[in-house]
Amino acid sequence: MEFQKKGPLKGKITVPGDKSISHRAVMFGSLAKGITEVTNFLHGADCLSTIRCFRQLGIEIDNHDGSDTVMIHGKGLHGLKKPSNVLDVGNSGTTIRLISGILCGQDFPLILNGDESIQKRPMGRVISPLKLMGADIISQRDNNCAPLILNSSNTGKQVLKGIHYESPVASAQVKSCILLAGLYADGETTVSEPSLSRNHTELMLSEFGAQIKLEGCTTSILPEPNLNGRRIAVPGDISSAAYFIAAGLLVPNSEILIKNVGINPTRDGILHVCQQMGADITLENVNDNGGEPVADILVRSSELSGTTISGTIIPTLIDEIPIIAILACYAKGQTIIKDAAELKVKESNRIDVMVENLTKMGADVSATDDGMIIQGGNALRGASIESKSDHRIAMSFAIASLLAEGTTTIQDAECVNISYPSFYSDLNSLIG
Ligand code: S3P
Repeated sequence: MEFQKKGPLKGKITVPGDKSISHRAVMFGSLAKGITEVTNFLHGADCLSTIRCFRQLGIEIDNHDGSDTVMIHGKGLHGLKKPSNVLDVGNSGTTIRLISGILCGQDFPLILNGDESIQKRPMGRVISPLKLMGADIISQRDNNCAPLILNSSNTGKQVLKGIHYESPVASAQVKSCILLAGLYADGETTVSEPSLSRNHTELMLSEFGAQIKLEGCTTSILPEPNLNGRRIAVPGDISSAAYFIAAGLLVPNSEILIKNVGINPTRDGILHVCQQMGADITLENVNDNGGEPVADILVRSSELSGTTISGTIIPTLIDEIPIIAILACYAKGQTIIKDAAELKVKESNRIDVMVENLTKMGADVSATDDGMIIQGGNALRGASIESKSDHRIAMSFAIASLLAEGTTTIQDAECVNISYPSFYSDLNSLIG
């Protein structure tokens, strides 16, 4: 797909529902008794993979005409049925890691697999703690990646052991996997992480009726709760809003109001970094939405300065680092991103892929072991961008193209379907 320099961007936009929250709504709704009604559900390919898996596990999920309301007919903690085929998670890391925790607590065997990219992503981080809980889970090719074989010895009801796990990474997928397995354990399960990752599982599971305790970076859960179906209004995804925040800041004379965006403090690092860089961003209509804070975000074009991003803020903006790198290219001075080695194990190696593509566009950027260093101020020029089928890379370079001289071509630009199917039309709607 080809892109040209464009702008300014003006107007209002509503971004689709949050990906992390949409996944969890389907999963927890399936494990609750009764109906869970989810509004503003994200119809991205990843969340549709979660729906497909739970349908294969015997849960009735209505989603007429692809409307953004989804009704889940939950069957309780022990209501899932053995699927007749391999469960296919597609490209979704959240699906495979969270569902592994749930499925280790079931009394039937199954195989979990996904696309080529998923088969390269590290699953040892969930296999190890699940094994400590007594789960029967192995990597079929013995390489700590999918396909994963669960409950193959099929000895009957799986009772897992409650453990205290010190996670080596601040990963919400790892934390959530263990907490979900904890629903099927023989006692309390506790997870500590080096710094706090997104806490949507903790917030939503408590709303469903689970007993969860949060203390700093440690979360505990008690087994066998009564979970009851409920209504969930999914807030707009701040990770999707991030592209319009960046476009509004960078393209001269722009002003964009992004409505109803989730601003959970475990996700709002992008706002802090932008403010640190000198951005003109205002939050309006700040509100609580079932424990998840939301706001409208008003963004105006700004002169930005470089900054350093490191430490505990990293998990709160991990998915936004590609677009932050684009901001840094247009900021005055140097931006250093460190403590972000997790970028290497996302849908692509986001350090290498950003550095390679930005270099092609003429940016002054270098990769480090755990991040990148960007010297702002070089005007970018159009280039042929390899998205590596990574949605966040494609969207970041679509924003970069708005400022670049000449034509930018993004390979496999359609991969935005993973998290934001209407991304390009929403972007065009803001360009006069
Ligand atoms: C997610 C957690 C993050 C994030 C991913 C979604 C989640 O991954 O990058 O896009 O929904 O729990 P990690 O937990 O691996 O950091």
